Amino acid sequence: MRRVLPLLIGFVFVPAALMLAVGILILVFGAAPRDYVFGGLILALVATTLAGSGAALIVVQREARVARLQTDFVNKVSHDLRTPLTSIRMFVETLQLGRLSDPARQAEALGIISAETARLSSLINRLLDWARMESGKRRFQLQRQPVAPIVDAALQAFAPQRLGHPVALVREISPDLPEVLGDREALAEALLDLLQNAYKYTGPEKRIEIGAAREGPTVRLTVTDNGPGIALPDQKRIFDKFYRARDPLERTIEGSGLGLAMVKHIVRAHGGRISVASQLGHGATFTIVLPAAEARS
Ligand SMILES: Nc1ncnc2c1ncn2[C@@H]1O[C@H](COP(=O)(O)OP(=O)(O)OP(=O)(O)O)[C@@H](O)[C@H]1O
Ligand SMILES: [Mg+2]
Repeated sequence: MRRVLPLLIGFVFVPAALMLAVGILILVFGAAPRDYVFGGLILALVATTLAGSGAALIVVQREARVARLQTDFVNKVSHDLRTPLTSIRMFVETLQLGRLSDPARQAEALGIISAETARLSSLINRLLDWARMESGKRRFQLQRQPVAPIVDAALQAFAPQRLGHPVALVREISPDLPEVLGDREALAEALLDLLQNAYKYTGPEKRIEIGAAREGPTVRLTVTDNGPGIALPDQKRIFDKFYRARDPLERTIEGSGLGLAMVKHIVRAHGGRISVASQLGHGATFTIVLPAAEARS
C-alpha cells in the first residue's frame, strides 16, 4: 500500500484534480452549449478515473492479503510437516538402535509413530483436496437427492472423530423437506467440516445441533455449537482460504484454515450460499442455503 500511494497521487489524484478544475472552469465560464457538454464529459471522466482507481486499489489490497496469508501458511505448513517428521525420525532411530528393550515401551513408540504418520497424511490430503478444488479439477455430480441421507452421511463420518470427548448431538430434520440437486458426497463433506469445527472449537461441555428445514424455495442446513463464538471482524474472513481467527486460544488448536474455504467452494458449486451468525461467548451457527431441486428444474 505504501508503494502504491505515491503512484496513485502522481498518476491519478493530481491529474484528476487538474481535470476537475478544468471541467468546473468550463462549466462556470462556458457560454455555448458545446462548453457544457465538454465540462460534463470531463467531470464524468474524473469520476470514472477515481472509481476505477478505487476498485483497482481494493483488488490489489485483497491480493496482497491473500499473498500474505499464503506466505504465513507456507511457514506454518512447513512447521506442521516438520514437527511430526522429527518425532517419527527420533522414535525410529531409538527403535533401530535397540534402546527400547521393554515391549511396552516399544509398543508406545510404535503408537506415537503411527499417530504422527496419520497426522501427516491428513494434512497432506487436505492440501491436495484444496489444490484439486481450487484448480477446478474437482467435478461435482449434481443429482436430485433427499436431504436426510446427506445429513446422516455426515453424522456417520463424524461419529469416529468425536470419541475423544462426549458431545450432546441433536439432529433435527423437518419431515417436509424438498429434494436438492446436489453431489451427496461433497455436501456431506461440507457438513462434516462444519461438524468438525463445532467439535474442535468448543470447550469440554460440547453441544452440537445439526438441522435441516425448508424455507420457501430453499433448504437451510444449520450447524450450531456452544463454543466461544467468532468475533465480528473474523466472521467476514473465516471463509477466506488460509484464514484462521486471531484468538491465541484457538491458535493452539490444529488446523490449516482451509476447511471453510472448501465448504464455501462446494456450496457455491451447488448454487447455494453459506453464512455464519455468532456472538462472542455464545457459540456459532453456520447456515448453508441450497435451492430446492423443484425450484431449479
Ligand atoms: N464453530 C466455530 N467456533 C469458533 N470458531 C470457528 C468455528 N468454525 C471456524 N472457526 C474459526 O474459523 C477459522 C477457519 O476455519 P476453517 O475450518 O476454515 O479452518 P481450520 O479449522 O482452522 O482448519 P482446517 O479446517 O483446514 O483443519 C478457524 O481457524 C477458527 O478460528
Ligand atoms: Mg476447520
